[in-house]
Amino acid sequence: MYMKSGKDVLILGIESSCDETAASVVKNGREILSNVVLSQIDIHKVFGGVVPEIASRNHVEAIDKVVRQALAEADVTLNDVNAVAVTYGAGLVGALLVGVSYAKGLCQASGLPLIAVNHIEGHICANYITYPELQPPYTCLLTSGGHTAIVRVVGYDKYEVVCSTVDDAVGEAFDKAARVLGLSYPGGPQIDRLSSAGKAAYKFHSVITANGNFSYSGLKTAVINLVHNAEQKGEKIDKADVACSFNKAAVDGLIERLRRETAANGLKTVAVAGGVGANGYLRSRMKEFERDGFTVCLPRLDLCGDNAAMIASRGYYSFVNGEFADLTLNATPTLKLRGERPV
Ligand code: KG4
Ligand code: ZN
Repeated sequence: MYMKSGKDVLILGIESSCDETAASVVKNGREILSNVVLSQIDIHKVFGGVVPEIASRNHVEAIDKVVRQALAEADVTLNDVNAVAVTYGAGLVGALLVGVSYAKGLCQASGLPLIAVNHIEGHICANYITYPELQPPYTCLLTSGGHTAIVRVVGYDKYEVVCSTVDDAVGEAFDKAARVLGLSYPGGPQIDRLSSAGKAAYKFHSVITANGNFSYSGLKTAVINLVHNAEQKGEKIDKADVACSFNKAAVDGLIERLRRETAANGLKTVAVAGGVGANGYLRSRMKEFERDGFTVCLPRLDLCGDNAAMIASRGYYSFVNGEFADLTLNATPTLKLRGERPV
C-alpha cells in the first residue's frame, strides 16, 4: 500500500497522442508506481499503419478504464495525486483531443491542477525514470516515429535543438521500408529483428545533409526502388540483407552526427529518446560512447515507445515550477520542441 509522505509529489500522467492509450502514476518525477499502456497495434495492423479516426474512437472507449487501472495499480486515489499531466501535442489531433478533454474533465471534477506536456519532451524524460541520478545538461538523440533530432538538454524545461530531419523521421522511414519488404506494422521492430539474419550488402547514401541535418526520405526511396526494381526484373532479393543494410544506414548517420555534436559541445553525457531507441543496433552503437568516457543513457525498453510514465515525469518538472494549464488547453498536433528552429 502506498503511504504518501508530505514531501512526495505524485503526478497522474495521461497519454493518447497516437495508438497507445496510457496512464501512469509517477512519484517525484522518477519513480513509477504504475504504468498502464493499452496498445491498439493489433487493430491498426490490418491497415498497415495507424488510422486516425479509429485511433480516436478506441481512445474514447479505453481511457477511463486505463486511468482507473493506473490509480488502482499504484494503490492511490485522486486524493493522493498532486496534479494531472496530459500530452497535448505533437500527435494526431483526434487522438490528442481524447486525452486532453478527459484530463480537463478530471481536473474540473477533482479540483486537481492540470499540466500540459509536450510528447517529445516526455520521451526525453523517460531517461529520468531509467537513470534516477541523471540531470541536465546532456546531449539527447531523439528518434521517434514523428521526430528525429539532436537536442542539447540544458535544463528540465530548456532544450536547444541542434539539428533535425528536413523530411521524414527515422521511425517513419523504418515503417515505410518495412512495408515495402512485406513486414507488418509497426515496421521498426520487424526490421530490427530481420536485420540480425542479414548482412549489410547494400550501400546507401548518408542520411546527414550538407548542412548537418538529417534526411530520411532518400534512404526510404532507395529501399523502395531497390525492391521494386528487383521485382520488375524478376530477381530475388534477400530481405534480411536489405533490412540489415537499411538499419545500418539509418543508425550510422545518427551516431556519426551525434559524435560530431558531442565533440563540439563538450558535454560528457549522451541519452537516447523515442521509439527507435529500442533498436538493438542503435543501442549497441551507443555503447561505443562509453569506451570514449561518456555516460550513456538508454531508456528502459518499455519506456522507449509511447507511455504515460514519461508524461508524468515531464509533468513533475512543470509542477515544481508552478506551470499549470487551464481549461482552454487544446490539442496541438504540430507542437515543436521548445527551442526548435525550422530547418
Ligand atoms: O516514439 P514512438 O513510440 O512514437 C512517436 O512518438 O512517434 O516511435 C514509434 C516508432 C515507430 O516508427 C516504430 O517503428 C519505431 O519507433 N520503432 C523502432 C523499433 N521499435 C519501435 N524502430 C527501429 N527499431 C526498433 N526496435
Ligand atoms: Zn512517441
